[in-house]
Amino acid sequence: MQKKQLKNSSTTKRNIAISLPVTGEEEWQAMREPLMSGWITQGPKVAEFEKAFAKRHNAKHALAVTSCTTGLHLALAGLGVSEGDEVIIPAFTWVATANVVLYCNATPVFVDVDPATYNIDIQKIAEKVTDKTKAIIIVHLFGRCVDMDALRNVLPEHVKIIEDAACAAGADYKGQTSGALGDVAAFSFHPRKSITTGEGGMVTTNDDALAETMNQMRNHGATLSEEQRHHGPRPYLLPEFDVLGFNFRMTDMQGAMGIVQLSKLDQFIDERSKWAAYYTEKLESIKWLTLPQPLEGSRHGWQAFVTHVNPDKAPLPRNEIMERLQENGVSTRPGTHAVHMLKYYVENYGFKPEDFPGAQSCNDNTMAIPLHNRMTQEDYDYVISALLEIDSCVE
Ligand SMILES: Cc1ncc(COP(=O)(O)O)c(C=O)c1O
Repeated sequence: MQKKQLKNSSTTKRNIAISLPVTGEEEWQAMREPLMSGWITQGPKVAEFEKAFAKRHNAKHALAVTSCTTGLHLALAGLGVSEGDEVIIPAFTWVATANVVLYCNATPVFVDVDPATYNIDIQKIAEKVTDKTKAIIIVHLFGRCVDMDALRNVLPEHVKIIEDAACAAGADYKGQTSGALGDVAAFSFHPRKSITTGEGGMVTTNDDALAETMNQMRNHGATLSEEQRHHGPRPYLLPEFDVLGFNFRMTDMQGAMGIVQLSKLDQFIDERSKWAAYYTEKLESIKWLTLPQPLEGSRHGWQAFVTHVNPDKAPLPRNEIMERLQENGVSTRPGTHAVHMLKYYVENYGFKPEDFPGAQSCNDNTMAIPLHNRMTQEDYDYVISALLEIDSCVE
């Protein structure tokens, strides 16, 4: 196929990023307060952010952490996952979902994904459950919640459910918010997510005892927080350290930014939903491109709009399509990766790509196209034109 500039782009070539955070004056002003007061590590702003986040996600407790990765690690550690335990995870997810299991010296047990939803294939879970299975990490990938009713039908009660809700702030399953669908959940505020604090994460749970353990563990295992020590009447107090902890504390500048970002979450998702529907309407004529489907009766978080290029029908291999789009100023990315195909996992566990064919296919053929809250109607139309232009080359 001959390379050319888009002929049907009415304006000049655009540069459309795959994702851009919406940050500005409000976040800047909010972050001034901790900077001026001098309380810059976990303090009142983090506490306010946690309270608002817990309320929005219908969870009893929310604990801010440094990332979703540390949040997942904290959740596993809080549940007592350790050597000899098995943790079930989907094979198509960001590497962190698997790495955190290894940080706890436990064994990740991969299950294939369903390419129609990008989520764990529920029908393949039961065969992987053993008497060593302590937990499952389900991933609401790209913002689409896992089918929880179907999951509970196949999962024994003793297996704890951890939601990797990195992509699913504000999403819901049949009206129940992400973050309160299992035993514990972790969210990400990396800039590619719907709301951001630069880096950062949040853990939510309805379990009082687990919340207390995780609260202690995120602060080195100390029985007293910095705030309790500094604002209490007994200046000589030093905390006790009776569990092995970490330093996963969020800064108060991030907390202040998180409060502002959270207040915009629903507006961001509503806008993304509108444009996801627009893409669906305008791109459904492309026979070689499968578009993401929201789960009926549930709210998709639309962290990303991830398509699947059908290698048998597409005019070009996926990577060449991505290159052509990039040349025309449209950034795309693979959805995410199949963890069992990553070098560390291949070398240490001897996986072959075909061990999880659904994940392999998603690894090789998914393509996220731009969807974020700084795009205009013209930007969306430009992306659509770029894809239709490629489609017009199909024999
Ligand atoms: C599914 C999933 N889990 C975990 C993570 C890790 O999040 P963080 O970068 O906040 O550690 C990501 C980040 O991309 C993710 O997409």
